[in-house]
Amino acid sequence: MTRYLLAIDQGTTSSRAMIFDDRGEFCAVSQQEFPQHFPDSGWVEHDPEDIWNSVVETCRGALKEASLSAGDIAGIGITNQRETTVIWDRATGKPIYNAIVWQDRRSAKYCEQLKADGHEPMIQEKTGLLVDPYFSATKIRWILDQVPGAQERAEKGELAFGTIDTFLLWRLTGGKSHYTDATNASRTLIFNIHTQAWDPDLLGIFNIPGQILPEVLDSSDEFGDIEADLLGESIPVYGMAGDQQAALFGQTCFREGMAKSTYGTGCFLMLNTGDKPLRSNYRLLTTVAYRINGKPTYAQEGSIFIAGAAIQWLRDGLKLIRIAQETESLAQQTPANHGVYLVPAFTGLGAPHWDPKARGAIFGLTRDTGIKEIVTAGLQSVCYQTKDLQKAMEKDGLRPTALRVDGGMVENSWLLQFLANILGATVDRPKLIETTALGAAYLAGLKAGVFDSLETLEGLWQCDRSFKPEMTKEERDRLYEGWVEAVDRLQSH
Ligand code: G3P
Repeated sequence: MTRYLLAIDQGTTSSRAMIFDDRGEFCAVSQQEFPQHFPDSGWVEHDPEDIWNSVVETCRGALKEASLSAGDIAGIGITNQRETTVIWDRATGKPIYNAIVWQDRRSAKYCEQLKADGHEPMIQEKTGLLVDPYFSATKIRWILDQVPGAQERAEKGELAFGTIDTFLLWRLTGGKSHYTDATNASRTLIFNIHTQAWDPDLLGIFNIPGQILPEVLDSSDEFGDIEADLLGESIPVYGMAGDQQAALFGQTCFREGMAKSTYGTGCFLMLNTGDKPLRSNYRLLTTVAYRINGKPTYAQEGSIFIAGAAIQWLRDGLKLIRIAQETESLAQQTPANHGVYLVPAFTGLGAPHWDPKARGAIFGLTRDTGIKEIVTAGLQSVCYQTKDLQKAMEKDGLRPTALRVDGGMVENSWLLQFLANILGATVDRPKLIETTALGAAYLAGLKAGVFDSLETLEGLWQCDRSFKPEMTKEERDRLYEGWVEAVDRLQSH
């Protein structure tokens, strides 16, 4: 009898539930967008109740779509937008403030202070991260400071903290499980990636009471059973990972040197460095890729805040296109060297620049610049940003043996050809581009006994198309130089 796995993929702009069978084949999906809140410049919030409702509804929707019932599901895997921070009341399960989203920059000043006080080297050494509003700790601090009585209640053990994985698990299990996994923990700025434990020194720096923290489990583990009334029957949760780590897992990048790049709201390039947490000298992040049987595998990561979101802005903000798919034919009609550079630093710049104050700009406009050029520049910005990451990795002595791409944007073949051109490297697109959800299903499937090993999973990866570089080195260098110049001009230093 076929066994099925349910993956919950809770992303920045939408929640998705997907069902896969025991050969890793896609069976059904249900997706829902939810509102984004921008209460101030550079602030981004979600209502945790919107997130929760969209997750329950999409799980029900996916089961219906697949004509399955909860009893057919061997296990659930949860994957999520990382770093986004929720604090809730343990007694009622009600959040005490909205979720502060990973993109939110409100703690930029506090981060500056932490750096000025000389904390960054120690924080980087222990967590593999840098001091930036991106990560959870300074968001936790903000909530505990701003919500009246919160610090005191946290100290008394009345409040719980979680990234979205933990919040969802808490709700799904009716408050019985307060767990996270090592990948999500490794994005909080208070988790020591070497000892694999919450770090007392870091908790001290941020003045975060240990009582609010979840227990950290493996990425493939026993996270507890969901309440029977949610989907008709109880189902065990067996997998959990941050969405970028889940994508690496779904791409089966299990060997040292293999890399994936996911193009969603942002873009995240991750390279498997095996059992070594390599420290970057070029402002990339060291992070837990996955932890299985207590053994962490590490990755080096470059995080770009705006990728697909730039296309969304061209569509919804500027209304230059009606649907994202139009970008491909517009770019096909435009020579690559049209001279326009769009730097989408809407929420500052991530790796390798880490400039929270930078804001977006368009350079090189002339009288004959039109929609085609601006849209093409938007697509190209995604590739140039990936090139920035590749360069930083190279300086750190790392060159991917393979680059596998995924996420909604990679349907666009023009984008991938330009990416291969500008990287000067082959880019592989798998048959299934929703590898984030697949990775969560794989993690759950390993624990459920649906899959027996990583080698079995490796055998399931299928290439749809390989994009090989078709641009001369001179042209590549010339185009990229223009980008470097544009980024330089908008940085706040
Ligand atoms: O670190 C943020 C990341 O996890 C968000 O991913 O797919 O929602 O853009 P995504």
